[in-house]
Amino acid sequence: MYVTRNWYVIGLATELGAVPVGRRVCGLPVALFRDGDGRARATGSICPHRGADLAQGRLVAGRVQCPFHGLEFDGTGRCVRVPSQPPGAPIATGLQLPTYPIVEQQGLLWIWPDPSPPVPSSPASFRGLDASVVPRHYFVRPRTYGGSYLNVVENALDGAHLAFVHTRSVPGAPESTGSWHISMAPDGRGFEALAVADSEQGSTDRPLEMPSRAYLGFAPRLVRPLIEPFLGLDVVVRYTFSYDLSGRVCFHTTYRNGCEDFLFAFLTPSEAEKTLVFAGHSRARGANPVADWAIRSFMEILVEEDGVALDKLSQEARGPAGLMPPAVIPADRTSLPFRRLYGRALRAEEKSVPWALGRSTGEADS
Ligand code: FES
Ligand SMILES: [Fe+2]
Repeated sequence: MYVTRNWYVIGLATELGAVPVGRRVCGLPVALFRDGDGRARATGSICPHRGADLAQGRLVAGRVQCPFHGLEFDGTGRCVRVPSQPPGAPIATGLQLPTYPIVEQQGLLWIWPDPSPPVPSSPASFRGLDASVVPRHYFVRPRTYGGSYLNVVENALDGAHLAFVHTRSVPGAPESTGSWHISMAPDGRGFEALAVADSEQGSTDRPLEMPSRAYLGFAPRLVRPLIEPFLGLDVVVRYTFSYDLSGRVCFHTTYRNGCEDFLFAFLTPSEAEKTLVFAGHSRARGANPVADWAIRSFMEILVEEDGVALDKLSQEARGPAGLMPPAVIPADRTSLPFRRLYGRALRAEEKSVPWALGRSTGEADS
């Protein structure tokens, strides 16, 4: 069960090259390629002739060619050439692929996997990828994690696994997840959790200031002491993470010198037990090639660690929606707003809400 009236990231703009790219989104097999005008296109990837996988085929002058009998399809999904018949002979009707709206924006390829027209007509842009805010950014190699979209989003929002799963990328991460102030986005499609300071009376609304090494270790251990003081990255004055229904999770760190780090992942439901992950990093101010190299190394390790942990999870018995039974610990409270948002989006599409979404929160859905 997927929310399909939604823009999802299906690829990186840099992935579209000499051959088609095959992906699944919300269970649909999709071929991605650039047409003769260089425009990104998304069509179904199952050849309507005998069912070969077009994503295994070639690109010929902006058309995708089936690897089985060489039929060629243009960016509108129409078959425009059948090599085994004389030129000019009529092409059988029915040789048509489904197509999906696709938008290339901020280095990402966004797809609308629903038959309805896209609303809004294009995906939201992301401040952490805006060239006027961040001079450069990069993505690590896209990955497919074992685990449902719900599992993978909840893992991304879960601070309690850092100290145990991310022992290489975030050495010394605290076991305690601290206190968070959660606020919903004005458009109702997301939320932000702000790390807040505690007082003797409990948590406050005051952003928690902390040494950066106590939280996200942005680089391998040996390199960090050289980089952080140089870039003024040693004290964090504001740290948030956020989620919205486009599948975007962002960890946003503001340092005392005004520098900002955006560590982000765009998560897309691929199949029932598979989720696409497009993770990356950008930094406003303080650009430095050594730091870029170090942070990239850190990201590769971090993404790998999550993948290994989630692949192991997927071998275990889970509930019908891919969620574990609703046994929650206090640290799971950061996933509750996600469950509410996602449940609401499923209901808006008249789809059933997984049993665990409502039960585990113990809260009325408003
Ligand atoms: S299966 Fe694709 S051309 Fe025959
Ligand atoms: Fe993780």
